[in-house]
This record gives sequence, structure tokens and C-alpha cells, in this order.
Amino acid sequence: MTTKTPAQLRSARWFAPDDLRSFGHRSRMMQLGYSEADFMGRPIIGILNTWSELNSCHSHFRERAADVKRGVLQAGGLPVELPSLSVDESFTKPTSMLYRNLLAIETEEQIRAHPLDGVVLMGGCDKTTPGLVMGALTAGVPMIYLPAGPMLAGNYAGQRLGSGSDAWKYWDERRAGNIDAQQWQGLQGGIARSAGVCMTMGTASTMTAITDAMGLTLPGASSVPAVDSGHQRMAADCGRRIVGMVWEDLTPDRILTGAAVRNAAIVAMATGCSTNAVVHLIAMARRAGVDLTLDDLDALGRVTPLIANVRPSGKDYLMEDFFYAGGLRALMKQIEDRLDLSCLTVTGKTMGENLEGAVVHNDDVIRPLSNPVYHEGSLAVLRGNLCPDGAVIKPAACDPKYHVHQGPALVFDSYPEMKAAVDDDNLDVTPDTVMVLRNAGPLGGPGFPEWGMLPIPKALIRQGHRDMLRISDARMSGTSYGACVLHVAPESHVGGPLALLRTGDIVRLDLPARRLDMLVDEAELEARRAAWVVPKPRFDRGYGWMFSQHVTQADKGCDFNFLERGFGPAAGEPEIF
Ligand code: FES
Repeated sequence: MTTKTPAQLRSARWFAPDDLRSFGHRSRMMQLGYSEADFMGRPIIGILNTWSELNSCHSHFRERAADVKRGVLQAGGLPVELPSLSVDESFTKPTSMLYRNLLAIETEEQIRAHPLDGVVLMGGCDKTTPGLVMGALTAGVPMIYLPAGPMLAGNYAGQRLGSGSDAWKYWDERRAGNIDAQQWQGLQGGIARSAGVCMTMGTASTMTAITDAMGLTLPGASSVPAVDSGHQRMAADCGRRIVGMVWEDLTPDRILTGAAVRNAAIVAMATGCSTNAVVHLIAMARRAGVDLTLDDLDALGRVTPLIANVRPSGKDYLMEDFFYAGGLRALMKQIEDRLDLSCLTVTGKTMGENLEGAVVHNDDVIRPLSNPVYHEGSLAVLRGNLCPDGAVIKPAACDPKYHVHQGPALVFDSYPEMKAAVDDDNLDVTPDTVMVLRNAGPLGGPGFPEWGMLPIPKALIRQGHRDMLRISDARMSGTSYGACVLHVAPESHVGGPLALLRTGDIVRLDLPARRLDMLVDEAELEARRAAWVVPKPRFDRGYGWMFSQHVTQADKGCDFNFLERGFGPAAGEPEIF
């Protein structure tokens, strides 16, 4: 179904007019070695590539960009590759989350400013998916998302290793003196064995699954391992398909509707998603003009069973197993009666059509609804006098004995203070203690770092304890686990109630009732509030200053307030003079 003519291509505004400016554009394309036949009347496809030599998860993206180009050329388009900010999770400090919005701005403006008719977005490592999608949603040209795919399962001495999850687990054993230096080195070499994103259901695989469920990737693309030859074929298919999307004028606003966002939220719950999904999903939805709230997510979480038996919420399996078991299409098929199957997708077909023929090949990995990993979804949202604007917890990933818990708070104001304390053999702590870290939110961190899985104090590790209730206004890695309450909002840095908590105060978590409270009377809290001193801003200049001026709180997705839809009129197309 072709609806656009060559004269209606967006790129024709740059190249078609018979004027001096267009002469300049055409001559510079010829400088690049193209003839008019290469770029006139053909869709020009931007390949936004987040490859970098410091992004270990995207190390295959140069080759994959070549595969995309092959597909674009076969379909009659002209591919042009544009380097994009490669927000890697491992090396970016103080935290990659500080730069998600910078990637979103760059993506939006890069698309808007150039003669692009459609784009293929190449991402995968945690923040790259929401950053690219948020920017491209606002830019509004046809787009297709190419997920990096999970890396191979880790292995050391015959034992399978999961990204992040096993690093935390074995670090505790190392601190307890149960692992020697040689074993630790072996683990280091075996835990990340190939290109691709973390192969647990961490933030990366959660976000690519969400994008898949939104209909913004080719069906099931998020599950294909990075080094599988199927990943190369999928990349070429992306190239072929985006050209068709341009002619069909299949823009993202036709795909990312409220129903598609809801589908994505349900799938996130069923996969055992990372807690980071909450922040990114809300931010992406708001870019699409959909007001998704924490309460919406909690309501879906209560009725959606977790059926992907993939670590860290599941027990045994990794993303490679999930792919062999049928991948995301098979999971979505299992829950299709809960989804809106009429949603349009990048294929030009509905989600229901895309799921036809999907089959589960291993029902221990992708469980039937009658035998879920956990009876509810992955996330629960808490409210109470400690978190009036919400907080999140991952019930399936923590010891059930902490679902209802009451104990004395042990409060830290900074990460270094907390880190020094947990290694103190004489720290005054018991398994009932509630460890609290504050000043770790979007403004306080700064940038909302992944500090929320606070280390268990050495004194407790030595006694054999591996979990305890922890509370912070930080995020935590999607590969983390434990009784960790996160994203407390408003954060302490802006005077949220967490700022008023003191060591020794009794804190109560009641997960079934979705409550988190400090048992301190209101008059005392009022006195503490009056004495609270506003902390110094974290940045005086530069991007950090801009971030601090405009970032929203966790419950609103941490986008910049001036980038959300509804802030003002859309930027629209650039003038070409
Ligand atoms: Fe890139 Fe985990 S470090 S996905």
C-alpha cells in the first residue's frame, strides 16, 4: 500500500527545488559520491547508530549497520549512517541515567535537522532504548527500532552466569571469604562472553521487550541473541521494512497509542521486568501523549502473572533460553487475551497478526498462566508517609519474609558513608534493621544512580544473611534483586519525607497493602521539616545544570519538563532557506 509519492518525501524539501540552497544540497551529496539517481525521489533512511569503542554491548553495531544498509538498498532507499550518543551502562559516570535525556534531545534534533524520510534506531544497552525512542517519537518520522540483542549466557568452570545478578551474588561470597582471587578472576572473564546486552531480564532486555510489545520493532526482534545469524537477518529486514514504512507514511503516532502502551506495560509485568521500566515507560508514554501513572502500573501488576522464568525474578534461565523457548512472541501469545491485538505495528499489520503461529517450545521457561513464576506481576507501587508520590519494589525478587516487615532505620546520607559502614565488622545492625540511603534521586544522586541494592553489611553476611529490607530514592540495576524499595518520591534532595527520617525510627513495609510508612508522629515530623536545610545544588553549569533545572521526579519519568508533549507547540519542520 503506497500512499506517498516521491515529490512528497520529506527529503524532497532539501533536494527538489530549483533554487540556490537546493543546488548546494545536491552538490554536497555529489561530493559524497552519490549521483542524483541515488538520492532524488528515494527514501533517505537515517541509521542512528549508538556504536562506540566504550560500549561493550554494542560492539557488533558496525557490522549490523552494514546489514541494515543492505536491506535499505534492496528496497530502493538510500541508507545514511549517523553516529549517536552511545550511553553505555558500564563506564558512564556518575550514572548513565544523567544522559538518557541528552540522547533523546540529540535524536530528536538530529532527525529534525536532516533530510531523513525514516530512521532505524540502533540501541539496546539500558538507556539507549528509551533515549532513542523518546527522541524519535517526538521527531515523528517513520521509525523502526533495532535491538542489540542479549549476549551469550555467561559461564565459568561449567557454571552458567547471569549478567549483574551473579556479580552481586559472588561479590557477597567474596566479602564473606568464600571465593579466592583466582576464582574471582575466572568469574570476571566468564560473565560477559560476547557482544550484546546483559542476558538476564535486566533493564536492557526489559526495555527492548517493551519496545517490541509497543509494536516498534519487528515481531520478536528483542529476543534474538546478538551473535545469532538471525540477528543479522533481522537487521537487514529492518532496512527493507523502513523503506516500506516511509511510502506508507507509517509514523510512530499511529503505532504508540494508549492501547499499545498498555500492552507494553502488561508484557513488562509478565516478563519480570526491571524496576527501571517504570521510569522509562512513563517517560516514553508521556512523549506519545499518554498519561501513564504509577497507579496504572500497580493495577496491571496485581492482575498480571509473571510467566518468564528468567533471572533475576525467575529462577533458572537466561535470555538465550528465552529465545530458544519461543521468545517474546511466544510469551505474548500466552497472554494474548489480555492484550489489545488490534494495535498497529511497524510491519503494517496488527499485533494479533504478528503473533499468529507463535509457539512456546519450553513451558518451564515461558510458563503457562496456570503455572506462573509468581502469581502477580513484577512490580508493586507503594504509598505512605515515606513516599507520598510513590516508590517501587520487585516482590518476586525478594525474600517473602520481608513482604511485611517492621524494623529500626539505619540512615545514610551519602553513598561513601554507607559503603564505609557496611564493611565495618562492628556495625550495629540486625536482620530486622531497615537500611536507608538518601540523596540518591534524580537531583540528589545526581542523575538517579543505580545504588538502590545497598550491600548487605559484612556483619550480617558472615552470619549467613543474604537479604534485608533496604529503602532509597535511588534506582537499582535491572539485574539486581532483594528486598529493595526504590524511587522514593519526592526524593530527599527536594525535601521529600525521606529527608526527615532518622536512625532508630521505626519503618513499616506492608506490601500486600502497598504501604511504606515511618512510625513517627506528625508533630515530630513537622518540627523536623521546619529544621530541614535545602542542600546545595549538585551542578553550577553545563549540561548537569540544565538537567537539574528541568528533570521531573521518578513518578513522572524523569524527562525534562520542556520536552514532554503538552509543554508547548511542537517544533515542527525546519525552514529551509
Ligand atoms: Fe549494557 Fe547491561 S551493561 S546492557
